[in-house]
Amino acid sequence: MSLDWQGRRSGGLTGQATVPGDKSISHRAIMLAALADGESVIEGFLEGEDTRATARIFSQLGVRIETPNPHTRVVHGVGLHGLQPSAEALDCGNAGTGMRLLTGLLCAQAFDSVLVGDASLSKRPMARVIRLLEKMGASVSARDGNFAPLHIHGGQVLHGVEIDTQVASAQVKSALIFAALYAQGETVITEPRPTRDYTESMLKSLGWPIDYRPGEVLVHGGGSLKAGGMRIPGDISSAAFLIAAAMLVPCSDITLCNIGVNPRRTGILSAFALMGGRIELFNERRESGEPVADIRVRSSSLKGIDLPEHLVPDMIDECPIFFVAAALATGKTRATGLAELRVKESDRIASMVKGLRAMGAQAVDSPDSVEITGGTLHAADIDSCEDHRIAMSFAVAAQCADGVTAIHDCANVATSFPGFVALAQSLGMNLE
Ligand code: S3P
Repeated sequence: MSLDWQGRRSGGLTGQATVPGDKSISHRAIMLAALADGESVIEGFLEGEDTRATARIFSQLGVRIETPNPHTRVVHGVGLHGLQPSAEALDCGNAGTGMRLLTGLLCAQAFDSVLVGDASLSKRPMARVIRLLEKMGASVSARDGNFAPLHIHGGQVLHGVEIDTQVASAQVKSALIFAALYAQGETVITEPRPTRDYTESMLKSLGWPIDYRPGEVLVHGGGSLKAGGMRIPGDISSAAFLIAAAMLVPCSDITLCNIGVNPRRTGILSAFALMGGRIELFNERRESGEPVADIRVRSSSLKGIDLPEHLVPDMIDECPIFFVAAALATGKTRATGLAELRVKESDRIASMVKGLRAMGAQAVDSPDSVEITGGTLHAADIDSCEDHRIAMSFAVAAQCADGVTAIHDCANVATSFPGFVALAQSLGMNLE
């Protein structure tokens, strides 16, 4: 049964809220804690379908993981070489991060594994990871050489190499880093533009020999990981929907607390600031090594911008909500360098352009760019393409449109932002 939403114009968002834990960090926290020696306590874990799928997979691989209360996991790490084979396929659900990082990790094990995913994940490209891992000595078979199910042939000897990822993707980079932990010698990874560096920073904090700077990583093979606790901040990618809603709906003033503001994730705040968004960070601090802040957002008069291309990797998941802001701003917004959006949970350029046009916006696209002329929106019937971020983007657009907007197939919002509707309602959004 499909889960549909209805949204209509709201009269102002107010109040204070927190959002669920960061998805990228939650995946990595489970993976690295599983490979560490001893017990790690993870707090602020995202109880989303994607990250729970990753935790379930490590249970299948013989790691004991307890849930003393929601958002907390106690992981009894088995050490770098302690994972056990699973007789069953390992189901990553909707999660590209889960599947790509696990491919890197599992290709270095002594045993074989099979990774599967849902219909959307089974259409997403995996050759970008497989081809590079093969250069390290890995052996992975994929449907048509590119798609899940992935049959990972263990028992290979991996060796360190110098690799350019060719694509600005933290998932590709992190898959290589996981393999490099097990490789003989050093692996040097360069990427065309810097991407989120959580794998690197977490490895360093767990005592692994790794050096990195934006765009380049050097990993030494062989070592061990200390177990350690971690507090995961709120996910800025989830906060972005509420930030946009508060900017776009008149008479709004909200504060979102405990949001991760790693510079590799705050491209959306820079983009909104360029548009004239009234966004203030305060209470800036560090938790478990990560920069965290509270964020106040007030209604803003937004203007269209030419998005600086270097911001794109730092806001890759926020592009859909950025397009909504552009559609309601004054003047034209142009963004280029967006080709990666075509291979996310849906083709996010196509999904957004189609939905925004249905709501009356002027939007045109090329293979890697979008141009949107701001104006007013009206209600429409929206296909979310079963993509969580498309569903939430149009839930925000509906707050600024005449009439009742129906958004179809929203169940996958539970992959990244369980409780989105209730939280949005509590701040004053008109969504059910
Ligand atoms: C992620 C990296 C990004 C992002 C995804 C999470 C990660 O993908 O879109 O939601 O956790 O590494 P790419 O690095 O492939 O762009």
